[in-house]
Amino acid sequence: KIKKKEANILIVGLDNSGKSTVVQYFQSGGKRTEVTVPTIGFKVEKFQNAGLTLTAFDMSGQSKYRSLWERYYSDCHGVIFVIDSSDTMRMAVASNELLLMIQHPEMVKNRSTTTTGVPILILANKSDLQVAIPIGQIRAELGLDEINTHPIHLEASNALTGVGLHAGLEWLSDQII
Ligand code: GTP
Repeated sequence: KIKKKEANILIVGLDNSGKSTVVQYFQSGGKRTEVTVPTIGFKVEKFQNAGLTLTAFDMSGQSKYRSLWERYYSDCHGVIFVIDSSDTMRMAVASNELLLMIQHPEMVKNRSTTTTGVPILILANKSDLQVAIPIGQIRAELGLDEINTHPIHLEASNALTGVGLHAGLEWLSDQII
């Protein structure tokens, strides 16, 4: 099916989760249009993939920059939240960041087309690693079954090969009317 949509997609996640690799993968399959570095802490990249025009805000995983990313919440149509499936030590930190983000007023306010919060695609990245936590356990640790304010989809991914990325982006695209 052919889609033509403009969407601002935030790509967020802790440092080393694979955000840059995800962006690079989507860019290589699509057309990069512009890169801007407005300020320290993150870069903004605009590119096209699967009929979507994506503006990726590749946020620094450092929470000291959180106030910078929050400025972009109001104009965001979807989120790709990247998790390192092998990072057992910081799964609770990732879970906390996810909750902070989805509870932010700009993320739950009534949107023009829908009354639910912005859709969140969670990539359980690095699923290729032997030490990766099983997807069911990640779902439980993130408490995804308790979240009913946002459409949420969990997809195992390998950003190095692209496994899971297209399926995940398709889901996100379908959520954006
Ligand atoms: P920061 O810039 O620190 O915020 O990191 P980031 O989230 O942008 O992560 P980045 O894309 O730089 O990836 C971190 C490391 O993980 C790199 O060495 C990547 O090659 C590696 N990596 C990313 N995705 C995968 C994956 O799916 N599987 C494996 N095995 N390695 C991955």
